Amino acid sequence: MRHLVTGGAGVIGFELVRQLLEQGDEVTTVDVGKKGGLGDLDALAARHAGRLRVLRGDFAADRSLLAGKYDAIFHFAAIVGVQYVTDHPYETMAVNMRTTLNALDHALESGCKAFFFASSSENYAASVDRGHAPIPTPEGVLLSIDDIALPRWSYAASKIAGESAVFGAARAGGFTPIVVRFHNVYGPRMGPTHVIPEFLARARQRVDPFPVFGADQTRSFLHVEDAGRALRAVLGAALERKGGLYNIGSDIETVISDLAQIVFDVSGFHPKVDARPAPPGSVRRRVPDTTKLRALGFAPQRSLREGIAECWAR
Ligand SMILES: NC(=O)c1ccc[n+]([C@@H]2O[C@H](COP(=O)([O-])OP(=O)(O)OC[C@H]3O[C@@H](n4cnc5c(N)ncnc54)[C@H](O)[C@@H]3O)[C@@H](O)[C@H]2O)c1
Repeated sequence: MRHLVTGGAGVIGFELVRQLLEQGDEVTTVDVGKKGGLGDLDALAARHAGRLRVLRGDFAADRSLLAGKYDAIFHFAAIVGVQYVTDHPYETMAVNMRTTLNALDHALESGCKAFFFASSSENYAASVDRGHAPIPTPEGVLLSIDDIALPRWSYAASKIAGESAVFGAARAGGFTPIVVRFHNVYGPRMGPTHVIPEFLARARQRVDPFPVFGADQTRSFLHVEDAGRALRAVLGAALERKGGLYNIGSDIETVISDLAQIVFDVSGFHPKVDARPAPPGSVRRRVPDTTKLRALGFAPQRSLREGIAECWAR
């Protein structure tokens, strides 16, 4: 099969490209290199001669970069990261919406079997906080924006609009729409815009006392290799025309203070914890209900401790 993966230099996109190549498929990827990572793609292309095409560029501005016919399109390119989004809310809306509309216009023009859109648990975070959605949270819950004027919500607003656009375009294009809502996917290629690499960086710098923001909040963490496996399981379903929404995450709820403890154990550094309040707008609990994903035969293979040890070693 031939696939297009946008954002293939990113954490999840790169791993998906790697796994699709391993299973014998051909991949084209388009990435502007906002966070680097294109060298990793070049190395992957050299290992899989003739089966990975790496295109550099901004397809929010130039849709012709997407040219070609594909079995599945995985649209993963986006502006991400709470701090960056908070500082650049208009860029977040503009890039996330233009890339999504361009990817969908390309799917409508050239045809494809399945279109995957990378969405987020942020889309229902406010519903959970206000008691309108259960924990663990299944796919069919109320989506919400807490305060439309707050910059941090530009990300969820762009993802909710994107989900709607995918289902709308699929009606016109006849392809199977897949919306995957990722929940705290982490891995060794991740930059310090995420709690796990941030903690590891602080441990490496021997920061003592060690600040932990929102120590009593919870998240669920999924290693990126497991996210790649989950995506391939959903691809199998999509090719049988079983589309729709899928949570991709772990159903193990981890308290942030326990996450810090794992980082201390793995790094052999045991500082005094400086517990600080969570950033404004940060949700208290986040755990997906993964029943739908598990029904496809998927189960995570990496424990959090193993995954963190691997990130530390790298
Ligand atoms: N990692 C997670 O836990 C998580 C959680 C929820 C949703 N998501 C979503 O999954 C997707 C992948 O996430 P990630 O963690 O791999 O992100 P990432 O930031 O590592 O990768 C995104 C990639 O998109 C590229 N990109 C951005 N704008 C582009 C443009 N205009 N043209 C071409 N490339 C562009 C960037 O250069 C980057 O390599 C994103 O859509 C993100 O919103 C991820």
